[in-house]
Amino acid sequence: MLLGGNKTTRKIDNFAINNLKIPSIVLMENAAISFVKHIDENEDNFLIICGKGNNGGDGYAIARQLFSKGKNVKIFCISNENMSNDCMINYEICKNMGIEIFYKIEELDKLFFECNVVIEGIFGTGLNSEIKGIYQEIIQKINTASNNKKVYSIDIPSGINGDTGEIMGISVKADITISFVTYKKGFLNSKIKDFLGKIIIENIGLNETSINHLLKEYYLTPDMIKSFRIKRNEDSHKGDFGKVLIFAGSSGFYGAGNIVAKSCVRTGAGLTTVITDKNNFSLNVFVPEAMSFPINFDNINENLEKLENEILNSDVIAIGPGIGKSEQAFLIFEKLISIKKNNKGNTIKLILDADALNLLSENRKLFEKIRNRSILTPHLVEFSRLTGFSTDEINKNRFEITKNFAKKYEIILLLKGKNTIITNGEELFANSTGNSHMANGGMGDCLTGIICSLVGQKYDLMKSAGIGAYLHGKIADELVKKQYIVNASHIIENISECILNIFQ
Ligand code: APR
Repeated sequence: MLLGGNKTTRKIDNFAINNLKIPSIVLMENAAISFVKHIDENEDNFLIICGKGNNGGDGYAIARQLFSKGKNVKIFCISNENMSNDCMINYEICKNMGIEIFYKIEELDKLFFECNVVIEGIFGTGLNSEIKGIYQEIIQKINTASNNKKVYSIDIPSGINGDTGEIMGISVKADITISFVTYKKGFLNSKIKDFLGKIIIENIGLNETSINHLLKEYYLTPDMIKSFRIKRNEDSHKGDFGKVLIFAGSSGFYGAGNIVAKSCVRTGAGLTTVITDKNNFSLNVFVPEAMSFPINFDNINENLEKLENEILNSDVIAIGPGIGKSEQAFLIFEKLISIKKNNKGNTIKLILDADALNLLSENRKLFEKIRNRSILTPHLVEFSRLTGFSTDEINKNRFEITKNFAKKYEIILLLKGKNTIITNGEELFANSTGNSHMANGGMGDCLTGIICSLVGQKYDLMKSAGIGAYLHGKIADELVKKQYIVNASHIIENISECILNIFQ
């Protein structure tokens, strides 16, 4: 699903009007028809509150649609001065059709009392400053009335900034928000969840493929994930699903390596090998399907030579969880990223997480070695170390900062958190799955394992990161329906079933 904001809405509208030659009034009519589809047939007695922009125009068009279905419709017109053209056209038609239109704020209380459903089209993507005066008063009244009325917002609850989700002084609290064409970036702001109610994204008569080129930002949906699927050939063998090399876990943190390996195996990688301390006997017990490449940390140079063959044999290398920042860890990390092509002549892909990112932050010249072949999966603090931006600055400007970083270093960036962001600097995915019940140790390790497994199975880097983040959160979303806390082990046990459900 396309992800958009205030500017992109105008861009899409302009393209539809100027290039596709769809008159703007037709787009408005389509929006109204799509909106009305979601109104329960049994509902009656509507109060429609309209501003003077196109969001208000949508409101007048919706009023007409409902009126023509025989519904009881009253309109509150906030202002009929300086209306947008299409708003004026629909306002005039409503008047001509004999729909009752009210103008005085004193009449609002009575109108609320008489209606069952409020539909508000005060502001949409055109809101450009703090809401004050009469607008503030009307929104307050809607929110008071909303205790016993169903409130629908057109496109965006009036008062929410479509780009950031910031509340511009005050906002309507909607029960249902029916938004057009794009999932608004502002909806990703977790602070406004209670203002949005149920979100429905509707069409205005534009085929997504005809406007796809305008935006390269997406909200990941099950359909998108399904469309990424690569079918398994009947005659394929384990070599076709990737030789994955993992450097994760160290004394005291063997669990991290075990989790990465197990999630990698369960996601379907062909062959998984873990570089681990020679004293780590837990790997074979926890993940019997994985092989180990034992390292003697007391004689690291001897290991580095042997490691070369292992690297040349691999398709993808995941590095980071639980490796620490010791001299030995650094030497292995440096060795692992030093060879770009494997013995089949293919580029070896890299997934860098946790301590690999910390080592990278402290040794910036290594960025040169990872260009054009890597996914970096930092959480907020790790990303702050990588970029030098504070966590507050990143939170305020996630889209721009992540895109610029990915573009600058020519990597895929996956910034973990609510609505994990994945970007290559051009294209961007915002994840739609996941919840706070999965916020516990080992979760990131599990995600790394899933992603490196997908890369091994020949999914491209963006898609691997997107499918991985979606799957990881989706499993947790299903599990919290029957348990309170979700741990990495729970995710691992459910990976395969979830892949089947999504891909079938
Ligand atoms: N206070 C008062 N008026 C404001 C404020 C404010 N804080 N901010 C914006 N306005 C006024 C503008 O001057 C303009 O008249 O609101 C009107 C714009 O509101 P919108 O209807 O949100 O903007 P517009 O671009 O006309 O329409 C966008 O149209 O495609 C539909 O519903 C869709 O949200 C989308 C909307």
